[in-house]
Parts: sequence; C-alpha cells; structure tokens
Amino acid sequence: MRVSVINGPNLNLLGTREPDTYGTETLAGLEARVATWAQNMGIQVSLFQSNDEGAMVEEIHAAADDDGIVINPGAFTHTSRAIADAIASVEAPAVEVHISNVMAREPWRASSVLDGVALRTIFGRGVVGYRDAMRLLVNLRVPSTTIRYGPHPENVGELRIPDDPTGLVVLLHGGFWLREYSRDTMDSLAADLIAHGFASWNIEYRRSGTGGSWPGSGHDMKSALDFIPQIDGVRDTPIAVIGHSAGGYLALWLSTRADLALTVGLAPITDLEAAASQGPGQEAATDLLSRGAPSVMTGGRSDIFLLHGGDDQIVPVEHSTHLEAAVRVEIMENMGHFELLDPSRAHWPLVLESLTSAFS
Ligand code: DQA
Repeated sequence: MRVSVINGPNLNLLGTREPDTYGTETLAGLEARVATWAQNMGIQVSLFQSNDEGAMVEEIHAAADDDGIVINPGAFTHTSRAIADAIASVEAPAVEVHISNVMAREPWRASSVLDGVALRTIFGRGVVGYRDAMRLLVNLRVPSTTIRYGPHPENVGELRIPDDPTGLVVLLHGGFWLREYSRDTMDSLAADLIAHGFASWNIEYRRSGTGGSWPGSGHDMKSALDFIPQIDGVRDTPIAVIGHSAGGYLALWLSTRADLALTVGLAPITDLEAAASQGPGQEAATDLLSRGAPSVMTGGRSDIFLLHGGDDQIVPVEHSTHLEAAVRVEIMENMGHFELLDPSRAHWPLVLESLTSAFS
C-alpha cells in the first residue's frame, strides 16, 4: 500500500512556529514518526513539504496512483481552490489533517475549501493525527457503506456486512464527546469484526460544538439504534454495542434497552463525577453534568462486559470498574487507554468470544 504525506506552507517551521498551538515537534521529527507508523501499518510512504501552491498541486498529481494521500495544506486549506481541484482530479482518496484544533480558533480556520473533496478531516489531535489518517486509509481496504440515520451531517456510520452475519455490533467511539475525536478511532475494530463473521456499524454522533455533549450525543445514539430495523442485511440479526471511553458511557446508557444482546465497555467512563474531578476529561465531564447527564452509569438490561487497561492514564480503572451491574470485568495488564482500540492486542479475543456467546 502506497501513501503520500503532503505538508503545506509554514509546516517546515514546526518546532519553533507557535509551539503553543502546533507543539514542539519539528518537521523532521514528525516525518520520522510518520515513517515509523507507516512501516508498522505496512505502508510505503512518500514525504513531501512545500511552501508553494503549484508544487503541492504537482505532488498531488504525482500521487494519483497511490492508495491514499494524507495532506495538511496549512493556510491553503482555507483558500486554495487549485489544491481542492487537484484532489478532486485524482483517484487516490485524501484525508485532510490539521495539527491544531481549527474548529476552536479564528472562525476563518473552521472553513476548508477541501470540504467535499477530502474523504475525511482529522484535526486537533496534534501530530498523531497523521497516524490516524494513515490508519483510516488502511481500513478503507475493508469496504463499507456509509448509512445515514438522522438529519444532522454527523448522523452517519459505516456499515460492514459479511456473508450471513451472526450479529451486528454497533461501535461508539470515545474522545470526551469532543469534536476533534471521531469514529475513525474505531475503524480497526470494525475492520476486524467482519473477518470474524460479525457485521459492524461504526457510528458518528454530534459532539461538543456540533449540538452534541448531553443530551445530543445520547439522543443520536438512540436514533442510530432505532434506525437498525431499516437497514437491509442486519435487521433480523441480534445486536451488541461496543463503546470506548466516552462512547462507553453512552453504550452503558443504552444498555437499558431490551433489544441488545450484549454491551461491551472498553475503558468506559461510568462515573462522571470522578471524571469531572480529575484527568484530561475534567472540563467535558463537568459540562455534561451541568447539562443533566447521569452522574453514574448503573447498567441495564443487557449483559455487560467491561474491559480496562491496567495502565490507563486517561480514564483510570477506578472510574469505570465499580459498575455493579457488569456481568464480567477484565483488567488487562500492560495496556493503556488506546491499546483497547487495537484488535491485535490480548483483550480482543475476549471481546470476540463474548460476542459469539451473546449472539448464539
Ligand atoms: C494547520 C491549520 C491552518 O489553519 C494553518 O494555516 C496551518 C496549520 C494545522 O495543522 O493545524 O498552517 O493546517
């Protein structure tokens, strides 16, 4: 698999350029990390940076036969129709990346002329956004259909259905209900589920800044589940929900429904008061509480299986394992918060087994 990573103007100054906004990693450091990530994903990567619009257009043309393009067009994001046209002109799917949270800065940065031509945009995650963009391109190789379940542009999800699925797994991503974290983080699990005979639906939902947080995010999840009977190929299969982190909180909220065979929480936040008192989700959890979100998830009618990395620094184990309603809790040694999103790790066979028994 071949991917071109293209960086635009002023990104050569990374490291010294506005470090409060872009961090201290230099372009050379970033490219070295991209090369390592690419190697681990089996990607042959080419790296390019230019301050020149025309040179970037040429590079996009040169990437026409690649399997994907990862592009941070810098300020050309907001102005360059030529770069947008170049992306539209080539077959290679492009993922737009921004290191900073362009949605939370000057209003003009929130608009991109690549809207509609780039497949997806990843922003506000720092330099790991480049890794996530490459992972998204890798997972595109397991085909999916995007299904809309509601009126908002974020009411969508990718459906993957194997022959004769034994069940449908609805995936709810995490990220403290913030706009910069989206469903691409669950894609590797989605792509692996189909190889084990499970259909998956990897759902987007409104988050803070797009009408989400509480109750918007929960409302969207409920609408997605209510929509399943309208989806060909899965309407008669049993359903399970897997939620990671903040998505785990939503999954547990949904576990009161009668139509779920199993709810799996991957490092779910179950104690919102605890999350509001410490850790990186403090602000978001406080916001949810102020909007009336349930402070503790007590679980519901479906069976519940919780898995948590013993080394998790983002959602500490104590914020999730007190859940009395959980049928089963596994604390995974030597695992942090994000390893739970990697199907090659030790917890995943346990999840697959629990799905098989729930669906049988
Ligand atoms: C940027 C955001 C743009 O608005 C800005 O002009 C850049 C960098 C980012 O990576 O966050 O140069 O694309």
